Amino acid sequence: MSLRTIESSNTMKQNEHYNLHSTPQLTAIEKSFTYIQKAIEEHKASFSLTDIFFIVDYGCAQGTNAVVAIEAIVEAVQQKYGTAISNQICTVFNDLPTNDWSVLIKTISKSSFTSLALGKPFYEQILPSNTVQFGYTSSAIHWLSKKPCNLHRHCFVLAGQSTAEEMAMWKAQAAEDYKIFLQHRSNELKKGAVLLCVTLSRDNSNDTGNLPTYDNLYQSATAVLDEDELLNYNIQGYYRSLEEQTDPILLSELNFELIYADLYLLQHPIYENYRLKNIDFKEFIEKFTEFVRSWAEMSLINCLRKDRTEEERTKIIENFWNEFRNGMQLRGAEHFNKNPYRSYIILRKL
Ligand SMILES: C[S@@+](CC[C@H](N)C(=O)[O-])C[C@H]1O[C@@H](n2cnc3c(N)ncnc32)[C@H](O)[C@@H]1O
Repeated sequence: MSLRTIESSNTMKQNEHYNLHSTPQLTAIEKSFTYIQKAIEEHKASFSLTDIFFIVDYGCAQGTNAVVAIEAIVEAVQQKYGTAISNQICTVFNDLPTNDWSVLIKTISKSSFTSLALGKPFYEQILPSNTVQFGYTSSAIHWLSKKPCNLHRHCFVLAGQSTAEEMAMWKAQAAEDYKIFLQHRSNELKKGAVLLCVTLSRDNSNDTGNLPTYDNLYQSATAVLDEDELLNYNIQGYYRSLEEQTDPILLSELNFELIYADLYLLQHPIYENYRLKNIDFKEFIEKFTEFVRSWAEMSLINCLRKDRTEEERTKIIENFWNEFRNGMQLRGAEHFNKNPYRSYIILRKL
């Protein structure tokens, strides 16, 4: 694929790359299994024998991880309502139109239940009103719908380098996006249905757990980009605090009842493999770099000047990731030992 044709910075690296390099996101999904159980226990929506039981994953990427979450939800539904419900279940895999849909379809074709792929931004209503029984999202809604402004001193708004004005604009964009996301889910969900949001988050001291990675990304960018490109090099994500996600006034306005809200700092499976000596430092650097590359490369490609030739782009991208590896080599494995904070929030539609 040409390096000029990418439309969204939020799209994962194509050609199965994300599927092959996303075990940290899978750890977050595995942690959600107990919350899936809790959410199903709290599911109160009615349905008849002729209704379709829609389960939706918002932000499924290329599917390997999403299928694990969806299978856990289907199993929990079958346990609560009996296996006879199985042929009423329809699972919906949603992501941006720019997602690698051919890989997703290949991945979900192996699963035994009826599945649909739906390429629309989740900041729109994507299913008919009053149809969804179980909504799920993991490691996806921190991606904002648009960049509110350029950041002058870093690529990540929560790196402690943003001006007050930059911070205010990104915070407002994150609040607006969250409200829009919930508004549409509220329309789609049936009364008594549940929504489980697993989201990159931060603790009370504003620690995201992910700063070493963003610092290393920014330092790599300063080494290979021109000044105008560096200014445009921003990762369009915002890690909302629990408070930002559970504002009682907002939830009640959108007809949601809060069931659970928890926060965890999870183990990083690539670092754990290194710590347990299953891989050496060189392999750790390689695997960690590919993991970051799968979600961060589009932001790099999109900041490059339009007059860059294809050869220049290829060279810059190669140099960038070499700088990233060098930065890891310099700082050591311990510096990159965290899987960022994740919030687990269960909401029920009133
Ligand atoms: C890090 S991946 C997570 C994939 C999967 N849920 C997992 O946990 O492995 C984030 C996904 O969210 C998708 N995404 C970001 N913004 C989106 C939007 N506005 N609408 C739909 N999907 C979006 C990206 O395209 C990407 O596939």
